[in-house]
Amino acid sequence: MDLFEYQAKDLFAKHDVPVLAGEVIETPEAAREVTERLGGRAVVKAQVKTGGRGKAGGVKLASDPADAVEKAGQILGMDIKGHTVHKVMLAETADIQDEYYVSFLLDRTNRTFLAMASVEGGVEIEEVAATKPEALAKIPVDAIAGVTEEKAREIAEAAKFPAELIDQVANVLVKLWDVFVKEDALLVEVNPLVKTAEGKIIALDGKVSLDANADFRQPEHEALEDKAAANPLEAAAKAKGLNYVKLDGQVGIIGNGAGLVMSTLDVVAYAGEKHSNVKPANFLDIGGGASAEVMANGLEIILGDPDVKSVFVNVFGGITACDAVANGIVQALELLKSKGEDVTKPLVVRLDGNNAELGRKILTDAAHPLVQQVDTMDGAADKAAELAAK
Ligand SMILES: Nc1ncnc2c1ncn2[C@@H]1O[C@H](COP(=O)(O)OP(=O)(O)O)[C@@H](O)[C@H]1O
Ligand SMILES: [Mg+2]
Repeated sequence: MDLFEYQAKDLFAKHDVPVLAGEVIETPEAAREVTERLGGRAVVKAQVKTGGRGKAGGVKLASDPADAVEKAGQILGMDIKGHTVHKVMLAETADIQDEYYVSFLLDRTNRTFLAMASVEGGVEIEEVAATKPEALAKIPVDAIAGVTEEKAREIAEAAKFPAELIDQVANVLVKLWDVFVKEDALLVEVNPLVKTAEGKIIALDGKVSLDANADFRQPEHEALEDKAAANPLEAAAKAKGLNYVKLDGQVGIIGNGAGLVMSTLDVVAYAGEKHSNVKPANFLDIGGGASAEVMANGLEIILGDPDVKSVFVNVFGGITACDAVANGIVQALELLKSKGEDVTKPLVVRLDGNNAELGRKILTDAAHPLVQQVDTMDGAADKAAELAAK
């Protein structure tokens, strides 16, 4: 999960990384009071999850409270690279003397963590990496050893920070590493890290990406989610503990096992080429123990998607055998009916693997008018695509 700058700043402050005071507002008029509180001047900053806000006109200096109201009015509602600005942060102004770059990230290719630092900050770091690679220091960080004071100095020296700043920068790096580890982040980036006229080092911008796999041990992170921006179907699926991703096609997909579901998406997309180019409407993996309840939850989400015209249930029986899954489907349809949901979209079911014969018989005997069975994956995909195209 990527965070907004103001959320990154809060995490920085929590771990004693030096930042400037700031407050988030959603209406221009609110800027007046906040700017007064910040000492009469403020930098007005668009809060969108993309970089280059400055270049796009999303970062503006306001010289007094009235000016802040005007600048906030200009920035709120602005479109920055496809992101609409709903919030702006008013931040204390820094008297910047120099802009640097520092970051920690997970380096998957090299199976390690990586520190990057440069005294050429402020500009886009990709540009520095491309045009002046020698100006960007890249230092691997051992996961167990982490960033000690000594390691931090090594990073600062490799980036050629001025000698008189090494101590301060190293100190900030150790704290940023704290943010990275203690918050289970995949990326912590500060661009720019600035030196003020008084010679202080401050994180002026922050980009943090949190590892969702660690959510179970980071209960406070849930509050950082941007609920307004989440897709409502995905949010509903998440609330039910389902592994669901909304896509933009018309064939709803349910399968057991991520690999099977991924290949089901491919097969349906391929079959769809013959049927008005219909495509998969979602990814949904109901996992190993496909109980009636999980099946009902999955069907409810998929049938609630107005884009869905047909549903393909693709199950390969393993430890949970096909008869259990078939019973799950029958019970799920009854469960939905008893909840008053009228199921009107056709379901194509393909059962194979453990106890497939028995599973198919259960569905045949149930004779639900909307359910039809096809024994092969390709055949079922073709049927589901054909029904969606109708
Ligand atoms: N609080 C601040 N005080 C003074 N200048 C700032 C402040 N915040 C940002 N800036 C200036 O605006 C530039 C862009 O802001 P930044 O937060 O890095 O946004 P982005 O990276 O999205 O363009 C910074 O490089 C800095 O020069
Ligand atoms: Mg920046």
